Amino acid sequence: SQPWNRYRLPQTLAPESYNVTLRPYLTPNEQGLYIFTGSSTVRFTCNEPTDVIIIHSKQLSYTTTEEHRVVLRGVGGAQPPDIDRTELVELTQYLVVHLKGPLEAGSLYEMDTKFQGELADDLAGFYRSEYMDGDVRKVLATTQMAPSDARKSFPCFDEPSMKASFNITLIHPRDLTALSNMQPRGPSVPLPEDANWSITEFESTPVMSTYLLVFIVSEFTYVESKSPNDVLIRIWARPSATAEGHGSYALNVTGPILSFFAGHYDTPYPLDKSDQIALPDFNAGAMENWGLVTYRETSLLFDPLSSSSSNKERVVTVIAHELAHQWFGNLVTVAWWNDLWLNEGFASYVEYLGADYAEPTWNLKDLIVVNDVYPVMAVDALASSHPLRTPADEVNTPAQINEMFDSIAYNKGASVLRMLSDFLTEELFKKGLASYLHAFSYQSTTYLDLWEHLQKAVDNQTAIRLPATVRTIMDRWILQMGFPLITVDTKTGDISQQHFLLDPDPNVTRPSEFNYLWIVPISSIRNGTQQEEYWLQGEAKNQSELFRTTGDEWVLLNLNVTGYYQVNYDEDNWSKIQTQLQTDLSAIPVINRAQVIYDAFNLASAQKVPVTLALNNTLFLSGETEYIPWQAALSSLSYFQLMFDRTEVYGPMQKYLQKQVKPLFEYFQATTSNWTQRPETLMDQYNEINAINTACSNGLSACEDLVSNLFAQWMGDPDNNPIHPNLRSTVYCKAIAQGGEREWDSPGSSSETPRWSTRLTSSAQAWPAAPRSGSSTGEDPSGQGSPLVPGSGARCGGAGTSQASTPRSWGPTNLRVGQDSPH
Ligand code: BES
Ligand code: ZN
Repeated sequence: SQPWNRYRLPQTLAPESYNVTLRPYLTPNEQGLYIFTGSSTVRFTCNEPTDVIIIHSKQLSYTTTEEHRVVLRGVGGAQPPDIDRTELVELTQYLVVHLKGPLEAGSLYEMDTKFQGELADDLAGFYRSEYMDGDVRKVLATTQMAPSDARKSFPCFDEPSMKASFNITLIHPRDLTALSNMQPRGPSVPLPEDANWSITEFESTPVMSTYLLVFIVSEFTYVESKSPNDVLIRIWARPSATAEGHGSYALNVTGPILSFFAGHYDTPYPLDKSDQIALPDFNAGAMENWGLVTYRETSLLFDPLSSSSSNKERVVTVIAHELAHQWFGNLVTVAWWNDLWLNEGFASYVEYLGADYAEPTWNLKDLIVVNDVYPVMAVDALASSHPLRTPADEVNTPAQINEMFDSIAYNKGASVLRMLSDFLTEELFKKGLASYLHAFSYQSTTYLDLWEHLQKAVDNQTAIRLPATVRTIMDRWILQMGFPLITVDTKTGDISQQHFLLDPDPNVTRPSEFNYLWIVPISSIRNGTQQEEYWLQGEAKNQSELFRTTGDEWVLLNLNVTGYYQVNYDEDNWSKIQTQLQTDLSAIPVINRAQVIYDAFNLASAQKVPVTLALNNTLFLSGETEYIPWQAALSSLSYFQLMFDRTEVYGPMQKYLQKQVKPLFEYFQATTSNWTQRPETLMDQYNEINAINTACSNGLSACEDLVSNLFAQWMGDPDNNPIHPNLRSTVYCKAIAQGGEREWDSPGSSSETPRWSTRLTSSAQAWPAAPRSGSSTGEDPSGQGSPLVPGSGARCGGAGTSQASTPRSWGPTNLRVGQDSPH
């Protein structure tokens, strides 16, 4: 086939720089269309002689000259061949320039174009966003280039490894502000032919990928500060949001997070400013455009009067995630989208480190286990999962690129990188990481480059000894899907591994070149004391004294669940763990208290242990006040509750859960002066929500009274909502489920118009609002199912972790694994 019928660019040409001028029209033309016009010059080197120029272009029409869509020039004496003809290939999204003679290897050329595109409200490329300022409709222009829509705003070699320097100029209404990756070169100047317009010219970008470009024209305002290293930090938003202080929280945490990553990477922030902007219409949660990160409003803005703690946690972790990319991803970029898992997995891991640095009292790092590790194991344990890394030649079309953004890439990526960092030690991991970033700045890589630099760090010391190279160990976690179930017999000390599948008898599994065996780092504790690390390899019977116990001794593997695997024991060891948990649970670390619940329920689902064993692992909850184990139990039990719905088991199960949660409910009642204050720590605040949810769902009358009283107070005085933002989605949901028409139609429910509901298009998600809009639009703020389904009245807004409260329209939360993925 001809090269323009293939989705990947040929390697014949390499861009060096672009000059791009764009002019968005924020009012419709005579046909009622919003458009932008543009002109561009791309300078490129020819690597191999060719008589065709193939460059990405999508939904653009060209007006360059009457004769041709492009003008070609040689640079530095190179003679340009004549243009034969140009064509637009829709399928592969190319502008193709057929030449009458060849371009010469080693020569430089420039190509000019003039073009026009639609400034549509389609959230892709250069697009239009609208919002209401009071009664006034406002329009702004912004971009979402990633992964493959830069080509929709100007013709470009739109692949991540085709890095170049960009000189951007924006022509915009003079009363609006133009923003881009870089600072303006100087003040905006009037457009000579029309003084209603200004020209803003930006400094050249460093050599970078097209997917990280951004241009914005808006009336937005900002709050600003300087980071310790003198980086200008600004948070941009709608003028009213800025005026009401909704950008303050983001501003406060950005400086610390930038300093943290500069230290973590041993590399200064690569640019001289860091802008972040909250957009009313935005497809993803946030996008790491270099120097100007774009967010959904809910991912950046925080309103102390109406936002919940989980909204706040969401803001700090999303910021940490996107700022992590400013180095890992932007300065050093994976060469092709098949390695997206490395980019997103890495950011999804270190977002916890960056956010923890900004909010050191919140214990955020523990949340990776309930937010990433176990949720993704649930899909990775399906026969329809897929390996973290997809071969490069299987990812070609934009649709295939988009498929890379799934929970395997994000959450499994984060989980295995955390495991790697843990067995290397954070110190070694950081050494290798810094060496990788220094070696590949302004360039692109594959995951093997990271392994190589980590290996160098390992080879440069003697304290940490690995059973094999980083690459040999990691290949098994990256190139085959799934994870091992580790089985221990504490009578003999036998330990073995097998591929864990939830369906014990799947009819298809993909073959693995590693036969579903892993090289597994095994940490363990024996009666509360940590033991030395053990490496499990191969399937031959392994045995170690570490795992053999006598008398009352128990062992527990996978301390803090830093390993990406699950564990099963002989019945005796399980029952000793249960006894320990019921007598003194503090001997078992909080994350491992969650682990015994998660692992046991997964084993029960896979029919490897009786359900009663899993249920017995929840007996200790009556003495548990920590969030993480409760969250483990509630998410594990929700499946069983669903399975038992309308069976004779459902009633007894509710009674049991009511009994288990009662002490927790009373604990919060006592420590919050009868629900008038919120608990101090974030984890306790989340657990308070879990306690109310669980107590009400399982018929604890004190809870039912609490929520109906709170809701009644609000109904009685709709302008004064006495319900704390943390508790709103739970209380609304429970009170309406318990109540009736009066609650459903209550004045309170329709009177509270959220101040952030300023959008006109539907992409952005509002925060949980008043009960009526929350239910009648079918928008479920928890993302966990309708409260109106019998039996699942149980499951109103969960503990309000960031993921539960912020539905996303793409990848990570819309798991494609086992659904429509071709894998
Ligand atoms: N690079 C992604 C955004 C993205 C998603 C671009 C899909 C193109 C297609 C960004 O870094 C990201 O991962 N954003 C997340 C938030 C993050 C905290 C997990 C998102 O948008 O939800
Ligand atoms: Zn990301």
